[in-house]
Amino acid sequence: EKAGYKHFMLKEINEQPRAIRDTTLGRVSLETGKVFLAEMQVSEKEFREASQITIAACGTSWHAGLAGKFMIERLARLPVDVDYASEYRYRDPIADPHALGLLITQSGETADTIAAQRELIAKGSKTLAICNVVGAAVTREAQGTITTNAGPEIGVASTKAFTAQLTALFLFALYLAQVRGTITAEQSMELVDELSKVPGKVEEILRAVDDQCHSLAKIFSTSSDFLFLGRGIHYPIALEGALKLKEISYIHAEGYPAGEMKHGPNALIDETLPVVCIATKDPHDPSSVLKYEKTLSNIQEVTARSGRVIAIAIEGDEEIKQLVEHTIQIPQAPELLLPILEVVPLQLLAYHIAVRRGCDVDQPRNLAKSVTVE
Ligand code: M6R
Repeated sequence: EKAGYKHFMLKEINEQPRAIRDTTLGRVSLETGKVFLAEMQVSEKEFREASQITIAACGTSWHAGLAGKFMIERLARLPVDVDYASEYRYRDPIADPHALGLLITQSGETADTIAAQRELIAKGSKTLAICNVVGAAVTREAQGTITTNAGPEIGVASTKAFTAQLTALFLFALYLAQVRGTITAEQSMELVDELSKVPGKVEEILRAVDDQCHSLAKIFSTSSDFLFLGRGIHYPIALEGALKLKEISYIHAEGYPAGEMKHGPNALIDETLPVVCIATKDPHDPSSVLKYEKTLSNIQEVTARSGRVIAIAIEGDEEIKQLVEHTIQIPQAPELLLPILEVVPLQLLAYHIAVRRGCDVDQPRNLAKSVTVE
């Protein structure tokens, strides 16, 4: 059942190329760049006239939502709010028929997410779902679902469901952009083409970095705290890296926006603190290069205080190698697709650290796969 892998989590990490491919399959045309979303009870007119999107989700799915905000706002120029589903209904939220709700959930049975959906519906918003389980509770109340075809996820720590959610969000953002006319046909074609290359790149990462993450685990498995830093769309991936590590290795970890370090957390840095910095860039995208340069100066602040930096960088980046102790390289991609690649080494790092610490990676203490109480 684990197909020769020691744990479900490792099997599921390795299934990501297929999960991403299956989530894309049948939803795009490589010839025209068009995205198709089946069976939506929200018309193109409603998508065009939408005033905003409210995303509600929990845990890893919430991190996907945070990354999705960057995709939707950048491509479709539509404002997006991202809420913890467990908080949403406790602040008398503002929702209306022009706002669209989007629930992201692997299981489709998370009680907090169902409660947020009911609140949205009660306030007159239509809701859509991104869900991995066909027919799950959230999909039954939604006006449309993008199913993530990741297949059953057994490990409590979400891995392939997350990268499939990011894929679905990218498709949704592209779809909205096409319907709302905020993107040219040429840009669409290019992005769809880039998306089709992602599964192959994830395969490459799985082959290239597993041994390295294994060695890093030897060095860092006795650390008591970790920091994960990222900027812009890479910040949610820092949060996800920290969550994976806490959840399965029981090491305290925090994700932080790189630029916020100087506003407090720099005080934590000493020679014992591993700091995982996501420092990737799309060299063809000036806004991505700018973010990268700022992140480099944040990294220098960490190394100046003897923090031990593990950088996630793109292949061929020699500059960063000079600056930090360890660099994990991933292939280049357009900025909005980089998160799918960046998270893979973070999953493997958490996995190998947890295994070294003798933790039950598939069934961490105190946690359930699906949280059906509020
Ligand atoms: O099934 P859902 O996506 O709604 O679950 C949400 C969270 O409970 C879930 O992502 C949780 O944080 C995972 N254990 C993270 O690995």
